[in-house]
Amino acid sequence: MLRLALMHISRICYNPAIFADLRCGTKLRFTMDWRSDYYIGRREFVASVAGILGALITLLVGLPIIGYLIAPALRASGVAGWVSLVPLSMLQPGIPTPCSFSRLKQTGWKRMQMTRTVYALLRDSGDVTVLSDICTHLSCKVRWSPERSVFVCPCHDGIFDREGAVLSGPPPRPLDRFDTKVENGQLFIYVED
Ligand code: FES
Repeated sequence: MLRLALMHISRICYNPAIFADLRCGTKLRFTMDWRSDYYIGRREFVASVAGILGALITLLVGLPIIGYLIAPALRASGVAGWVSLVPLSMLQPGIPTPCSFSRLKQTGWKRMQMTRTVYALLRDSGDVTVLSDICTHLSCKVRWSPERSVFVCPCHDGIFDREGAVLSGPPPRPLDRFDTKVENGQLFIYVED
């Protein structure tokens, strides 16, 4: 509209015939020069509004459905909690003992039973430490070497002592530890995921 108004003003300003009409007191008649680009018929207007409303409703209804469908694909988790590991009587004091446990894990739409191994170390005092078998360098699996009495990471020769402290190699920190509890002689660990 602004553009059309400016066009009319410029027509008045630059058209000598109009100035002549004005000087003679002739009544000017401006006819709107609608170009098809600027003109929208009633039907097109209704169709456009219906289209926009339809798109909005589709968006409002469709987004929660899409979110519901793809949410499991973005989820990768298990349920945190205490896991029964091993009876204390099975542990030999001073020697890390490999213990396995299984967890149900959900990755996307898939539910899998994952088996993990950790090392339980019973001290003479009766305290227990449970160490992860995942190297803190690049997550390779460490294993206990009874001959050398150390944990060895085969990937880059990371070496940890029986308490999980780094002795040599690139690992930046000790092996991770789990929270533990003992109930009725059974060792439990707290697993985050
Ligand atoms: S992953 Fe264990 S030392 Fe590199």
